[in-house]
Amino acid sequence: SSGSRLTAPPMGWNDWNKFGCGVTEAVIRETADALVRTGLRDAGYRYVNVDDCWEAGSRDTAGHLQADPMTFPGGMAALAEYVHARGLRFGIYTAAGDKTCQGRPASGGHYQQDARDFAAWGVDYVKFDWCGAQGDPYQLATQFRAALDATGRTMVLGVSRHGNPWTWPTHPADLWRTSADIDDQWSSLLRNTEEEAGLATKAGRGVGWNDPDMLQVGNGGMNTEEYRAHLSLWSVLAAPLLMGNDVRTADQATVDLLGNREVVAVDQDPLGVPGDRVRSDGDREVWSRPLAGGDVAVALFNRGATSAEIRTDAREVGLRPAAGYDLRDLWEHRDTQSAGGISALVPPHGVVLFRVSADQARSAPQVTVSTDT
Ligand code: GLA
Repeated sequence: SSGSRLTAPPMGWNDWNKFGCGVTEAVIRETADALVRTGLRDAGYRYVNVDDCWEAGSRDTAGHLQADPMTFPGGMAALAEYVHARGLRFGIYTAAGDKTCQGRPASGGHYQQDARDFAAWGVDYVKFDWCGAQGDPYQLATQFRAALDATGRTMVLGVSRHGNPWTWPTHPADLWRTSADIDDQWSSLLRNTEEEAGLATKAGRGVGWNDPDMLQVGNGGMNTEEYRAHLSLWSVLAAPLLMGNDVRTADQATVDLLGNREVVAVDQDPLGVPGDRVRSDGDREVWSRPLAGGDVAVALFNRGATSAEIRTDAREVGLRPAAGYDLRDLWEHRDTQSAGGISALVPPHGVVLFRVSADQARSAPQVTVSTDT
């Protein structure tokens, strides 16, 4: 296939950032329950993705991947069923070569067999990592996509950044990493955001999604401003929103932050065009994203450690000329009017995120979550 069938970037949760190789099937089940209880499923977070270390140390005698008998004793099919029964989708992890990044068995030499097993288990999403695989990443991703398609089950495919997937002539994957693994600290968020500058035209609806890596919101290494900046920037970038915290114990402030429907609606906007940087002035940056109906999302991004006044205007962020504009602050849930200037005093390590609409013939606000088919 030549591009992603997902009409918006995937949303959900993945265990890696919080649990690493400490993941268990109980964590996955309890997280599925927590997604329902907190309302985060209904805010759009649908995929429950198991990362590395679910695999037993070796394949079975018939060559099948098997679940680690200590940590996933019930097996992956039963776990997928549990997740599906809660209105969620189930994801799994493998890699292109002989070993995963944690040294467990990976899919090298077994693409058809593993794809068939994943389909039989009810898998909806495969994270296909690299880690020392031999060969051309584009060729291997294309072969694995063909193996998935041959099963007849629709599965999302996410790949690593090896081989710069955003430059490939066709897009076997639905999403591709653009940067190193994210850490729960501001410097890491800055680095992964920087890697996305200039890549907006490489991704989007019908093509696939740039992936600056999973969310760290709620893991404790950053403050609330920084986590708001994280979700704001990821939404303007049209990034996958895969939570990486412990949803079971998340406090209400974290649930409310992740569940901000006006921010999520920017991420999931049906036009499907990612945003990019339009201004850079030291620590003061402006990123903007065109939205369905002519609105534009504008992130005033303060990279620095002191408050900063950040300014742009309607023309610079790509709005059409109009007599006036409505600026909706998506964190404060407040509207102001403007003749064309867009500015705010942005706190340290913060983002002020606006949805800007031209006053005349303004479109209905997109406040519902659009989900992929
Ligand atoms: C790589 C990936 C991470 C995670 C680990 C698991 O580092 O980039 O996201 O999947 O492997 O081993």
